[in-house]
Order: sequence, then structure tokens, then C-alpha cells
Amino acid sequence: MAEMTEEASRFVEKVRSGDATLAIVGLGYVGLPLALVCSRKLKRVVGIDVDARRVDAIGRGKSYIDDVPDAQLGEAVRAGKFSATADYGTLRECDVVIICVPTPLRKTGDPDLSFIVQSVDAIARHLAPGKLVVLESTSYPGTTRELVCPRLEEDGLVAGRDFWLAFSPERVDPGPAYGDYKIEDIPKVVGGITPSCTRVAAAFYGRIMKTVVEVSTSTVAEMVKLLENTYRSVNIAMVNELALMCHELGIDVWEVVDAAKTKPYGFEAFYPGPGLGGHCIPVDPFYLAWKARLHGFEPRFIDLAGRINAEMPRHVVQLAMDLLNQQGKPLRDARVHVLGVAYKRDVSDTRESPALLIMEILGSKGALVSYTDDHVPAVTLADGTKMASVPLERSDLPWKDLVIIVTDHSDVPWGRVVKEARLILDTRNVLKDYDEEHIHKI
Ligand SMILES: NC(=O)c1ccc[n+]([C@@H]2O[C@H](COP(=O)([O-])OP(=O)(O)OC[C@H]3O[C@@H](n4cnc5c(N)ncnc54)[C@H](O)[C@@H]3O)[C@@H](O)[C@H]2O)c1
Repeated sequence: MAEMTEEASRFVEKVRSGDATLAIVGLGYVGLPLALVCSRKLKRVVGIDVDARRVDAIGRGKSYIDDVPDAQLGEAVRAGKFSATADYGTLRECDVVIICVPTPLRKTGDPDLSFIVQSVDAIARHLAPGKLVVLESTSYPGTTRELVCPRLEEDGLVAGRDFWLAFSPERVDPGPAYGDYKIEDIPKVVGGITPSCTRVAAAFYGRIMKTVVEVSTSTVAEMVKLLENTYRSVNIAMVNELALMCHELGIDVWEVVDAAKTKPYGFEAFYPGPGLGGHCIPVDPFYLAWKARLHGFEPRFIDLAGRINAEMPRHVVQLAMDLLNQQGKPLRDARVHVLGVAYKRDVSDTRESPALLIMEILGSKGALVSYTDDHVPAVTLADGTKMASVPLERSDLPWKDLVIIVTDHSDVPWGRVVKEARLILDTRNVLKDYDEEHIHKI
């Protein structure tokens, strides 16, 4: 194990005693909940965000993230433990900087690293010896070493000697379901640019998290996150393909998965659905694929999984057309009501949500589309169409030709939906306890 310099030992002591000040750059789904958890364990947390509305909301103790209650945020702000600003100059007062900015894909499918580059360049302008910088944004293996490190070292400071630099993947699972997994209970993987960077970063996270898993390098830590998300993407694609197969064979795929998961070992249940959504699973594996291609390696699983998962919204539209056809009704001018547009249960996040594409395709084929989602009051589709959620009691379900369940929010009165709707396409198997003939599954 690497010897710690006197400077590193002093830093670790400061962190362990809870006397350190942390800056979190990017206060979104990842950064804001993390800021609150850290504010309970450190002297102070400052959030830096370029979005003035978010900075302003935090100042007023108003949360804009589902998983962060106003009361919790307000308490931390009033106690002076947490504040937000757009000013990177505040980094001068901070010992640790964690970067949680977005890492989307460009329209071409290549990684869009502009948010990392902008935030790292701003951090570099205020970097001083004795600070720890950690990237938590998901990116391709090598990002911390090849992209972040040289930019931070531009003015002559050296990582591992003058400051410490590491990568630690964020593993949060948004939504109330992750109440089972509090952030501090999820083991935290940490890998530094040098062994001393790993040790210093691990000591910092040791103050916040119950378990810290040290890996040898930042590149290994980056790859860990991509393995986790690629694993999900590939397994979801496999079961989605099984669903397409079962549809042709006249077998209920849900019954198959439920029976298979009674095996006590060697099988983890994944479920088919209308397509992938959110900021992680549909995006992250393509960061890895992009990097692999730069090295002349053609990743096959990632691409195949991506293609199968991307087919699912079109499969849902095809099933909708087939069901209407059986009723002697064309999709054109059919009244189709979508239940749920968030990408997963009980969240308001619609990033990459398959519901948006499903509604866009339905609309482009002439269907009269409406939706209900109490978590998502309004959406704008990629073709520019703006839509507003119709409360269930005003949605005229008995007059709709078809109801498509895309998101299985837990607060929907499903019994009433079953009773009122004439024809239902359930893409989540949320109606598994009903055996009415007008319910059809993916
Ligand atoms: N959302 C998830 O469930 C999840 C889970 C694990 C990992 N991640 C990863 O975490 C990272 C952040 O994701 P997110 O969902 O929190 O994103 P988000 O879009 O919710 O939040 C990002 C925040 O960064 C701010 N920002 C953008 N550029 C900035 C800059 N230059 N300086 C300061 N602030 C800036 C934005 O205004 C926004 O508030 C991504 O890499 C994502 O892949 C997300």
C-alpha cells in the first residue's frame, strides 16, 4: 500500500474529523441528493450549478428532484450546512470537489463530453494544492486520466503530488423504491489516478458511506459502472427479445419469467417493457462502445442490445395497431390514451422515456393521442408537439378506443382503469391480477 505524504495524512485527518468543506458541481438527480447526504457528515456543502433557477430554488429551500423533500432541503439550507451558487470562485473555500454534470449522447450517438469539459476547466481556474477532485459523472474508461487530469494540470499542479484526483461511479437508483437503498448504504467504488489519490478519495468517502471499495485505478472504477449498466441493458434486451419470440409463439412471457425466478441460484429476473428510458441504461453502454471502437474493437453485445431495446416502442405501436384492427378500427382517428409517460415507476423524469416516442409515432399515424401522468404535467415530443396530462377523472376512459399502459405508477387506481377502459394494452404487466378479456399484454 502506498505511503501517505504528510500533506495527505493531514487532509485525511481533516476529512475524518468532519471538518472538510465539499463542493458539488451539478445539482441534478445525482448531485442534489448526494449534497444533502454529505451535508450531514461534513462541515459544509456548497453546490455549484449553471442553472440559475435551480440555485434560486435551493436558496428558497424548494426541491425540484422527486427524491429530495422540501423539508429536508430547507432544514440543511437554514442550518447553513448547504447552499448553492453559480460562482466557481467559491471553490477557494472547499477541500473536496465532486463533479456530477450530465454525460448525454450527441445526435450521432457519440459521447457529449462538453459538460465535463466546461466544469473541469472552471474548476482548474480555482484549483490550489491540497484539494481532492472526484468525477462521478458516468463516462468511458479513461476519461479521468486522459481528459480531466491534463486539464486540471494545465497550470503546473500535478495530480497525486499537489492535488488528488479520482473517479467514483454514482450508483443511485432514482425513485421511492431506492428508499430501500439509502445513498450511504450503497457500497462506493473508488479509483484514483495514483495509489495515494485512491487512498485519499477512499478516506473521504469513508466519512460518508458505510462501505468503500477501492480499485486500482480511476479507469477500473469507470469500467465498473459501465459493466453494471451494460449488464442491465443486455439482460433487458435479452428478455425483450424473448417477449417478441413469445408473442409469435403464443406464450405469456411474464408467466415464464415469474416461474424461472423461483430458481434459487443462477438466475436474476429481468422484465420486458416498452423500451429503455432514463439518463443511464440507454446511454452509458454507448460511451463504452465508442471507446472500444477507438481501439479497433467492435462491441457486439452493446450494439445488439441497443437495437433490440430501441425496437420496443415500435413493437408497442404495432401491437396497438393489431388490437385496434381486431376491433375493425384503423389507428388513424382512433382515440388512444397513454397511462404514464415517466421512464419508470413513481418518478417524474421523462428523459429518453419510450412513452414519448410511442406517442409521437401514434400521432404521426393519425391517432388522437392523450395521456395521464400525475407526475408529469406536460411534455414536448421530439416533433415539437406539446401535450398536457389529463387527470384520470377527466380522461373519458370509456370513450377511448385503446388505453396503453406505459408506466406502472403505484398511485393509479388500476381497478377503475380495468373497469372503465374498453381495450387495454399493458406493457408492464401491472394488471397481472386481472384476467378480463379486454386486457392484452406485451
Ligand atoms: N440520474 C441517474 O439516475 C444517474 C445514476 C447514476 C449516474 N448518473 C450519472 O450522473 C451524472 C449526472 O446525471 P444527473 O441525472 O444528475 O443529471 P442532471 O441533468 O439531473 O443534473 C446535472 C446538473 O448539472 C448542471 N450543470 C451542467 N453543466 C454544468 C456546469 N458546467 N457547471 C455546473 N453545473 C452544470 C445542470 O444544470 C444540472 O442541474 C451523469 O453522468 C449520469 O450519467 C445518473
